[in-house]
Amino acid sequence: MKQFQFNDFPNVKGSRVSLRQIMDADIPDLIEISFYDAVQAETVEQAAEMQARIDRDYLDGNSIHWGIVDNETLQIVGTCGYYRGLDQGEGELGCVLLPQYYGQGYMTDGMSLAIDFGLNTIGLKRIWAATSRENGPAMKLLERLHFVKIADLSYGEIEYELTQPK
Ligand SMILES: CC(C)(COP(=O)(O)OP(=O)(O)OC[C@H]1O[C@@H](n2cnc3c(N)ncnc32)[C@H](O)[C@@H]1OP(=O)(O)O)[C@@H](O)C(=O)NCCC(=O)NCCS
Repeated sequence: MKQFQFNDFPNVKGSRVSLRQIMDADIPDLIEISFYDAVQAETVEQAAEMQARIDRDYLDGNSIHWGIVDNETLQIVGTCGYYRGLDQGEGELGCVLLPQYYGQGYMTDGMSLAIDFGLNTIGLKRIWAATSRENGPAMKLLERLHFVKIADLSYGEIEYELTQPK
């Protein structure tokens, strides 16, 4: 399995959106979608601290966290990435959009790039995602991307697994 170094961050170019490394200048725009261990940042300082932890996880080979950029406006519309399992050749995908970009297909495009990268560049043998049973938009997104439900987890969560290469 391919591992990455920080000076070799895997930016991914797509036709409508691209995936790129989050830079310090992006952080103020991303506070409302900055999470670490399910805790949400409330200030720029907290979001920067979370980003530093995410960067350390990346250096340790545990995660890849991308900003999803609209190629036309160059605005970051959300984030996605692999947050667990990479050390075992697997990846848990997660994602979040800034609310003003809901319902425009951005995440479907961003996740498609992340899935293609996970399968064909990193060489992951399994990709999964977990979401709350109440989260209709996330379930719809995962099903659109060819994930299927494989397990009911505790705390009302459902585990989905990618069934076919995209
Ligand atoms: C989950 C989440 C990313 C889904 O967002 P979303 O806007 O529904 O997903 P997309 O960006 O892929 O947009 C798809 C929608 O845009 C519509 N759309 C509009 N224009 C489109 C276009 N040009 N191309 C594609 N789809 C388009 C699609 O029809 C679809 O709508 P529908 O679901 O009503 O059929 C978002 O709700 C979110 O960030 N939630 C909080 C975090 C979260 O729950 N994460 C999930 C963890 S697994």
